[in-house]
Amino acid sequence: MARITLRQLLDHAAEQGYGVPAFNINNMEQGIAIMEAAIAVDAPVIMQASRGARSYAGDIMLSRMIDALTEMYPAIPICMHQDHGNNEATCLSAIQHGFTSVMMDGSLKEDAKTPADYDYNVAITRRVVDAAHWVGASVEGELGVLGSLESGAGEQEDGHGAEGALSHDQLLTDPDQAVEFVAATKVDALAIAMGTSHGAYKFSRKPDGDILAMNVIEEIHRRLPNIHLVMHGSSSVPQALQDLFNASGGEMPQTWGVPVEEIVRGIRHGVRKVNIDTDCRLAMTAQFRKVAVGSTSEFDPRKFLKPAMDAMRDLCRERFELFGTAGQASKIKVLPLAAMAKRYASGALDPVIGGVRVAAE
Ligand code: G3H
Ligand code: 13P
Ligand code: ZN
Repeated sequence: MARITLRQLLDHAAEQGYGVPAFNINNMEQGIAIMEAAIAVDAPVIMQASRGARSYAGDIMLSRMIDALTEMYPAIPICMHQDHGNNEATCLSAIQHGFTSVMMDGSLKEDAKTPADYDYNVAITRRVVDAAHWVGASVEGELGVLGSLESGAGEQEDGHGAEGALSHDQLLTDPDQAVEFVAATKVDALAIAMGTSHGAYKFSRKPDGDILAMNVIEEIHRRLPNIHLVMHGSSSVPQALQDLFNASGGEMPQTWGVPVEEIVRGIRHGVRKVNIDTDCRLAMTAQFRKVAVGSTSEFDPRKFLKPAMDAMRDLCRERFELFGTAGQASKIKVLPLAAMAKRYASGALDPVIGGVRVAAE
C-alpha cells in the first residue's frame, strides 16, 4: 500500500474515534518491530524520524527503508513523518526524501533550545504549511513549550528542547491562542504543551492534574473540535520495563511516565497522534542488558537484536490495541499526495473553526 499522509490518516481516526501512536525510528529493527505489530492487528502506522535519526541513519537509508517496508507489508498504510523540524529546510528536505508529513516546531527557535515568540512561530509554520500543501504533504505545528510543570524546567534530557526555566504560561498551551494559531497557520494537526516532556524522567510521582494538565486538552478540543491534537512526550515508562532494565545492572532511578489511561482519555477529547520513543528505546535496551548479563559469552548481534525487536513489537502492539488503532488499516483507501494537493488547493481541507471554514487567503 502507498504511503499515507498524516492528514488523511488523522481524518480517518477522528471519524472513527481512535488515536494513532507515532513511533520514532532510527534503524531497520525498529521499522520491522512496528510493522510486525501493525500487521498482527491491522493497524495503520505513523513512523517518525527526528533530525537525529536522519543524521544517524541517513536520508537515503531511511527513505529506502520505508520503500522496503511498504513493499513487505502492502496491507498497512504508512505515514512517514518528520519529528520536530526546526526550520523550513529540515521540513522540505524531508518531503524531498518521501516523507508525507512534517512537524514544523516553531515553539522553539532554529537552535531547538530557545523558546520562540508567537509571531515567529506563526510565520515559520505558515511558510511550511504553504509549501507542504502545494505538494499534498501534511504539517503538524506546536504551540506552547514542552517541559515539566513540576520543576518549571525545559527538557534537556536527550540534548534538545527548551533550556532553562519556563513560566507556567509557556508550559501550558493557551486555548484562545490555539484557535488563532490554527486559523493563521492552517496546520493539519496541533501539538500542545500540558506538562509532558521527552525522555524517561517526566514525573517524580504518578501524575495527577497538577502536573499533567489533561484539562488543557479538553478545553482546546472544546474550542477546536475539528482539529487533530498531538501529545508529545507520551511514553508511559512502564514499571515492568524499568524493573527489567535495572535487573540487569541498569541504573534507572524510579520515574513515572504518562499513564496509558490518561492517553486514552486524551483520545476521547481529540488527541489523534501520540508520540512514543522512550518506551521503545527502553523495551529494546532492557533486552540488550538482559542478553549481555545472562549470556556473557554471546557476541552475535542478532542474539541481542532479535529479542529487542520482539519486545518493541509487543509494546507497539499493545499501544495499537489500547488506542483503538487495531482493526483500522483495512478500512482506509489511501489517497495519493497529488489528490491531497488538489483538495488543499480547493480549500476543502481548510480548518473548520466554530462551524466556519477558515477561507484560504
Ligand atoms: O523528539 C524526541 C524524540 O525522542 C527523538 O529523539 O532526537 O534523540 O532522536 P532524538
Ligand atoms: P517520549 O520521550 O515520551 O517517548 O516522547 C517522544 C516524542 O514526543 C517524540 O516527538
Ligand atoms: Zn516530541
